[in-house]
Amino acid sequence: MQFVTTGDGSSTLYHPEVGEHYHSKHGALKESQHVFLRSGLEFFLRKENKNEVAVLEVGFGTGLNFLLTSDYADSQGVKLRYVGIEAYPLDEEIILKTGYENFVKQKIWSSFQHNYKKAQTQGVALTDSVHLFIAHEKALDFQTGDARKFDIIYFDAFAAVHQPEMWAAETLTHICSFLRPGGVFVTYAITGNLKRTMKALGFAIEKAPGAPGKREMLRAVKVS
Ligand SMILES: C[S@@+](CC[C@H](N)C(=O)[O-])C[C@H]1O[C@@H](n2cnc3c(N)ncnc32)[C@H](O)[C@@H]1O
Repeated sequence: MQFVTTGDGSSTLYHPEVGEHYHSKHGALKESQHVFLRSGLEFFLRKENKNEVAVLEVGFGTGLNFLLTSDYADSQGVKLRYVGIEAYPLDEEIILKTGYENFVKQKIWSSFQHNYKKAQTQGVALTDSVHLFIAHEKALDFQTGDARKFDIIYFDAFAAVHQPEMWAAETLTHICSFLRPGGVFVTYAITGNLKRTMKALGFAIEKAPGAPGKREMLRAVKVS
């Protein structure tokens, strides 16, 4: 696993066996802010005018999406329940070397690094308003311990050319079953197959402007 500096100066990881980066080479921070924070979280909060939100992420990886989401929720007084599914959690030593402490408040970073391992075995309150659980399993094996559904899905799997099974109807159907009606699904990519699958699952789909280096991305709202 190698660190690589991306277009906006933030770092990402390169996974040699998969042959893919964890984030966009054009800017890891910008991608995460644009796709997940603005197009996902802020869009949902504006749409529903809520002060609490539950996020399910597929591919927790380095935790960049989680960190930015927590920091934003904390500064807006929004209560956050976050579950990140991750089949292959990164070692703590790698998490400590991302440099992502520069993008969030100290209290968020310090609580995250202290609780990163623990959060893989049980839900942890990182602050008064941020709760994290990292589900150490494959997306298709994920089940919630209770009947509560999620408001937003951050779908951040490796690209379909490298991991087609993650974008297959079976995986999307399973993951989207945890989203409540009115919930929002966002991902950095958009393809004909993805649009067709999401429509068939009862989503209203939207081509939203993409992060740097990508013209478009998918945002989809669960209608029923
Ligand atoms: C594009 S990276 C995610 C980047 C991450 N969101 C971040 O901010 O660092 C894709 C992630 O999916 C994970 N992954 C691969 N196969 C998986 C599976 N079947 N189920 C869940 N996660 C998987 C990888 O280990 C990797 O962490």
